[in-house]
Amino acid sequence: MKNLNKDIERHYLKEGLFEAILNRLNNQNIDLGAVKRSDIAGVDEFHVRGASVSRELAELIHINGLKVLDVGCGLGGPCRMLVDEFNCNVTGIDLSAEFIKTARALSKLVRLDQRTDFVVGDASNLPFEDSSFDVVWTQHVQMNIPDKKRFYSEIKRVLKPEGLFLYYDIFISKDITIEYPMPWASSSDHSFLFNSNEMGLILNELGCKCLRATNQTEAGIEYFDVLIARLKDFGPPNMGLNVLMGESTKPKLLNLLEHLKNGALILESGVYKKESS
Ligand SMILES: C[S@@+](CC[C@H](N)C(=O)[O-])C[C@H]1O[C@@H](n2cnc3c(N)ncnc32)[C@H](O)[C@@H]1O
Repeated sequence: MKNLNKDIERHYLKEGLFEAILNRLNNQNIDLGAVKRSDIAGVDEFHVRGASVSRELAELIHINGLKVLDVGCGLGGPCRMLVDEFNCNVTGIDLSAEFIKTARALSKLVRLDQRTDFVVGDASNLPFEDSSFDVVWTQHVQMNIPDKKRFYSEIKRVLKPEGLFLYYDIFISKDITIEYPMPWASSSDHSFLFNSNEMGLILNELGCKCLRATNQTEAGIEYFDVLIARLKDFGPPNMGLNVLMGESTKPKLLNLLEHLKNGALILESGVYKKESS
């Protein structure tokens, strides 16, 4: 597991990420003393459909003021949104030390560092007490985690009774060979895709009840189609996921789009509730 986690951390590693983001803000003549969340939203929301889908996810429940854990928080864009727009108390945890360092620096840059907390750690071994959070939130992370039971058990453990689990994720849907690289893995060695029904069975066994599940695949495909048309007309954006994925951005996004279109993969969001025992 230690080696797998190291490999996954290496997959996402982009050294000097914060400096690269500052350079791009400078290129746009943005005053570094007055950076807005929207100025960095192209890079700090590392999932299909960026900030708009995070806002939709938050709006599925009455999240205002709640204590939230973002598992696999990446650069922390969704954490800052939850603090800034929904007055939540948010902790983000991620395997990548570089991402957590960058998440902290970005929070400082947009003056939200007093209200966001970021921790380096493994989602399969959460360093939090039982029943610590009202909401646990995760987007596009479980594909890197082989032991799904352990992952969802940890989420359930740190949730308070009646607490809510919000997810927006990529699941396998048809038995078609997946082409790599993908945004989360360069090869199948680090990719552990499974079916959302299997997630449901695990969560039900753990005593969590599905309140809502929405297939988001069409919205994801539309988003990619617009993005690709824009790339053809204008080239890579100054502040986009290309800052994170570099030269492999195009094959990764095209492979993901292809598999959303051929039905091998789906995007799904939803809400589970931890039943009080
Ligand atoms: C595609 S990114 C999504 C980041 C963030 N959730 C977002 O949507 O902006 C996947 C993230 O999962 C993290 N990750 C993968 N395996 C993990 C693990 N076992 N524990 C914690 N984080 C993990 C990666 O480091 C990466 O930041």
